[in-house]
Amino acid sequence: MTDQPVPDPSDAVPMELLSDTATIGADGQLIIGGCDTLELAAEFGTPLFVYDEAHLRARCAEAVAAFGPGVNYATKAFLCTAMASLAVDEGMNLDVSTGGEYAVARAAGVPADRLVLHGNNKSTEELALAMSEGVGRIVVDSFDELDRIIALVERGVAADTPELYVRITPGVEAHTHEFVRTGQDDTKFGFGVASGEAERVIEMIGEHADLELVGLHLHIGSQVFEERFFELAIEVVAPFFHRFDLPELSIGGGLGVPYVAGEQAPSITEWGAAIARACEAGGIRAWVTAEPGRAIVASAATTLYTVGTIKNLPGIREYVSVDGGMSDNPRPVLYGSGYEAFLARCVGADRERTVTVVGKHCETGDVIVNDARVPADLAIGDVLATPVTGAYGLSMGSNYNRVPRPAVVFVADGNARLVVRRETFDDLLATDTGVNPAS
Ligand SMILES: Cc1ncc(COP(=O)(O)O)c(C=O)c1O
Repeated sequence: MTDQPVPDPSDAVPMELLSDTATIGADGQLIIGGCDTLELAAEFGTPLFVYDEAHLRARCAEAVAAFGPGVNYATKAFLCTAMASLAVDEGMNLDVSTGGEYAVARAAGVPADRLVLHGNNKSTEELALAMSEGVGRIVVDSFDELDRIIALVERGVAADTPELYVRITPGVEAHTHEFVRTGQDDTKFGFGVASGEAERVIEMIGEHADLELVGLHLHIGSQVFEERFFELAIEVVAPFFHRFDLPELSIGGGLGVPYVAGEQAPSITEWGAAIARACEAGGIRAWVTAEPGRAIVASAATTLYTVGTIKNLPGIREYVSVDGGMSDNPRPVLYGSGYEAFLARCVGADRERTVTVVGKHCETGDVIVNDARVPADLAIGDVLATPVTGAYGLSMGSNYNRVPRPAVVFVADGNARLVVRRETFDDLLATDTGVNPAS
């Protein structure tokens, strides 16, 4: 089977939104990683997350080239053991925010010293485990947490001298197309600059011989399209580097990605270069690292659904119901996020019909794509695809309405590897000890 040249009718889904190896097969169907997505849907069922492994590896490698080995992948965007080991294989370290993310990374065989532990409410147990295993960095987020770390060090729990970042709230919050420079820092994360707390915690850590402050961390928001917001935050933290001569700066994550036709975002390479320039301009000589999540995984994945019901309300709208919904992609409900939709059997087809793609949950707001453009002949049984679903879909998903979570496959070189199997009804009952207590 030979691939056709990619047609470019203006109403077809834009190919640039699809993952790197996506092509159109001889029959017009979507091919990813050399695998026919209709065959994937038949073999693994739907909903199905299809991750393009070459795309994932290329973005990890790009981040390593932009920031250096040890740049962190923010696992909150998407985590399973296959993803953790792929990122580490490509030279990234991992940012974990909870004991659960830490446990998955460790189960993948990632050494503790390649993990950065985040979280605004780390428990003593989470800290103790990570410190006893020699976690790479702990990002200190509150005075209470610092007290807990000091107590654990005094109890001799830490394998090595804990290496700490302090999370700074620079008073710069970036949103997709705008930023807010807050006079005071109203956030549950980190230590404010304006309030003087940042300075105070840095001095407190400096007083402890058994703690090592290696740098500052900041994170200005998510889905940020403009480099100047990062530049502004770097300006705010520069004086700390002049005063305390700290060796490292992590500028967090937040780089945006295009989700729908017409959106554009800087590449990881462009982002890294802008940050390097801003640090240079600010006289920061520290090693500068980052924690991209979305920019690594979002456009690597496409979700495949099966159309189950079509309801036309004349003069109002047409609802196309698929077999997933807000449980595998809560972003539209949470943030009003937009997506594209198309049919896996005819990727290059014009999309002349406007429908609302909804899930199977008992919520009116359970919308996957509002006013989706789809081919005119969309019918029950079709495999409907939504691209750019690799970040904060499965990871923020749920079992709402006791819907089992979908399976995840990594595809590359014509092979599909099941990395997360579909949940079963038995999985849903695995923690339920009510009627049949576990023996
Ligand atoms: C501290 C921190 N680092 C990194 C990230 C990853 O952000 P993104 O996926 O937008 O790159 C987040 C996301 O919320 C975060 O809170």
